[in-house]
Amino acid sequence: MKITIIAAVANNHVIGADNKLLWHLPADLKHFKSATMGHTMIMGRKTFESIGKPLPGRRTIVVTRKEDYSAQGCDIAHSLEDAFKMIKKSEEGFVVGGADIYQQTIDLHQTHKLIITRVFASFEGDAFFPDVDPEKWELVERNDYKADEKNPYDFSYLTYKRK
Ligand SMILES: NC(=O)c1ccc[n+]([C@@H]2O[C@H](COP(=O)([O-])OP(=O)(O)OC[C@H]3O[C@@H](n4cnc5c(N)ncnc54)[C@H](OP(=O)(O)O)[C@@H]3O)[C@@H](O)[C@H]2O)c1
Repeated sequence: MKITIIAAVANNHVIGADNKLLWHLPADLKHFKSATMGHTMIMGRKTFESIGKPLPGRRTIVVTRKEDYSAQGCDIAHSLEDAFKMIKKSEEGFVVGGADIYQQTIDLHQTHKLIITRVFASFEGDAFFPDVDPEKWELVERNDYKADEKNPYDFSYLTYKRK
């Protein structure tokens, strides 16, 4: 079982504020959808509540320490270890946030790939992506895009593999 982390990260590692995303980039939503479609996603309880519903076509595992938590259409895990056990050995799982969950998973040996949308804009945030240590992660793909009428910021899709 392998884990890919997928995240959109603005300047200063900002990924969100007040339990919400800070920008609207339709191109990135499409990119996220196509990367995760048909796969299992693991997300923190706060991120799940921010989205408010399971995303179609994908299995959602919500991680919470609350014993009696339930969310319609989702599986619940009470630790990351348990969440990983719920994914088949042959399967790729996607960790989709938020900050707390990224922080706990980026250094795990199961996490072999990072798919980062780097958003070139500054926001006041309270949720942050951890440092991507170049000693541990190799940038293997980069695609750059300019802002356009639908997507208000320049952004790049970056793929890192664990060294
Ligand atoms: N830009 C992006 O790509 C992106 C993606 C996702 C989210 N976000 C943003 O990130 C922010 C949310 O991040 P966050 O750090 O506040 O919350 P989070 O990581 O989404 O969720 C944290 C919660 O997950 C549960 N949890 C964490 N570690 C656990 C463990 N080891 N075992 C069991 N449960 C565990 C706890 O839930 P309980 O309190 O229920 O126990 C904890 O309160 C929002 O602003 C959101 O918009 C951004």
